Amino acid sequence: MASSPSHFFVLIATIFISSLFHPSTAQLNSSFYSCTCPNAYTIVRSIVHQAMASDTRIGASLVRLHFHDCFVNGCDASILLDDSPRIQSEKHAAPNFKSARGFEVVDRIKAALECSCRGVVSCADILALASEASVSLVRTFFRFWFVWLPRKHNACKDFKLCVLQSGGPSWTVLLGRRDSTTANQAGANTSIPSPSEGLANISNKFSAVGLETTDLVALSGAHTFGKAQCRTFSKRLYNFSGTGGPDPTLNATYLASLRQICPEDGNGGFGLANLDPTNTPDGHDFDNNYFSNLQSLRGLLQSDQELFSTPTAKTIAIVNSFSGNQSAFFQSFAQSMVKMGNISPLTGKDGEIRLNCRKVNGG
Ligand code: HEM
Ligand SMILES: *[C@@H]1O[C@H](CO)[C@@H](O)[C@H](O)[C@H]1NC(C)=O
Ligand SMILES: *[C@@H]1O[C@H](CO)[C@@H](O)[C@H](O)[C@H]1NC(C)=O
Ligand SMILES: *[C@@H]1O[C@H](CO)[C@@H](O)[C@H](O)[C@H]1NC(C)=O
Ligand SMILES: *[C@@H]1O[C@H](CO)[C@@H](O)[C@H](O)[C@H]1NC(C)=O
Ligand SMILES: *[C@@H]1O[C@H](CO)[C@@H](O)[C@H](O)[C@H]1NC(C)=O
Ligand SMILES: *[C@@H]1O[C@H](CO)[C@@H](O)[C@H](O)[C@H]1NC(C)=O
Repeated sequence: MASSPSHFFVLIATIFISSLFHPSTAQLNSSFYSCTCPNAYTIVRSIVHQAMASDTRIGASLVRLHFHDCFVNGCDASILLDDSPRIQSEKHAAPNFKSARGFEVVDRIKAALECSCRGVVSCADILALASEASVSLVRTFFRFWFVWLPRKHNACKDFKLCVLQSGGPSWTVLLGRRDSTTANQAGANTSIPSPSEGLANISNKFSAVGLETTDLVALSGAHTFGKAQCRTFSKRLYNFSGTGGPDPTLNATYLASLRQICPEDGNGGFGLANLDPTNTPDGHDFDNNYFSNLQSLRGLLQSDQELFSTPTAKTIAIVNSFSGNQSAFFQSFAQSMVKMGNISPLTGKDGEIRLNCRKVNGG
């Protein structure tokens, strides 16, 4: 390459100049806090675990916060900032308003970390760590049979109901993100996918942040837990695209049960349905049933069912493969979560380490 001195000079000059323009291209890594806050992972995990005891849905809500953070200006905790004279909070953007939850648990995690390692662990990293804890601690199986297996994690306290269980997938969380000093409410309105905008538009929003078709399908598998409000899917139940009838890609039995949860003019659309109807009434287990649901036309959101029901879509084969092989889903999900967590982080001297996740320091 550097075959002559002048080539060599150009090479050195290029490296120098590009380092001026990209002062912080530092990569995230898993040992970022190994000296400065070695217990960070344990602290996050124990508070998520505690929160799950009183709110079985909290893991789902925390994973969604990380997603909605990363899709807007990268994974920089911008979603956590409250309104202030200089901040138009992303919490009031359409995809988050009266929907995003889990902020109090993030506050509790932050308070515990500030107690152990003041000013060290970023709020953006808390969201990444809490997501991994949420998925790996949640039940995989929820069956009423009596086979005792050593429990990997004590995510379930009721022995009668939770006999056979283990966590969802786990992965090594990369760390070193810093927190933004701004929010982007307009960005949150436009960059986060909406359930009714169509597969092509949603794929484009994923591509815009470097995520491919496999990532889209694997990450949509997060809808194996958690809940959605009637207003996010009720168009499918009554007057789909102005047809006067329901979405034809909606299973008739499932449709009937959803109409009971979401009557046509009920409740302002704030009623709740499990994203995965195979979850027991208040169970939120993490498994590959989401994909077999799509095969039997039991995707809750239009965006879910379209992964399987859009003619000739590349997503169909991926749904089929995850439906037939839970380990393949778990492996892809873990990889795609790491990839999502790598969306444009602030590193080095960019941004700051917020002391309170809801406020910019000194602001
Ligand atoms: C593919 C495009 C996606 C769309 C259109 C979408 C849309 C939605 C909607 C409308 C809800 C219900 C919100 C409510 O009613 O309050 C929801 C819930 C949820 N989403 Fe997504 N989502 C998408 C992708 C993802 C991804 C990539 C993740 C995470 C990796 C994710 C994780 C979740 C979780 C866990 C819930 C349940 C939250 C809870 O119970 O609090 N979603 N999503
Ligand atoms: C992790 O990243 C930080 C910041 O870029 C760096 O200081 C540290 O040496 C890295 N650690 C490893 C093991 O690569
Ligand atoms: C974002 O959407 C919400 C709800 O539709 C709207 O009230 C708000 O003005 C929008 N914000 C921006 C900055 O576009
Ligand atoms: C898809 O995106 C295009 C371009 O932004 C927009 O014009 C169109 O309305 C979107 N489709 C739906 C169904 O929202
Ligand atoms: C369904 O919606 C279309 C267009 O919005 C409307 O013209 C039609 O009257 C509606 N049908 C029923 C049965 O409500
Ligand atoms: C509808 O769902 C039921 C399970 O509730 C399933 O047995 C049936 O095969 C599904 N129908 C279709 C058309 O997939
Ligand atoms: C399921 O997926 C895993 C992980 O990708 C793979 O190693 C395994 O061979 C697959 N099993 C089958 C039966 O295809």
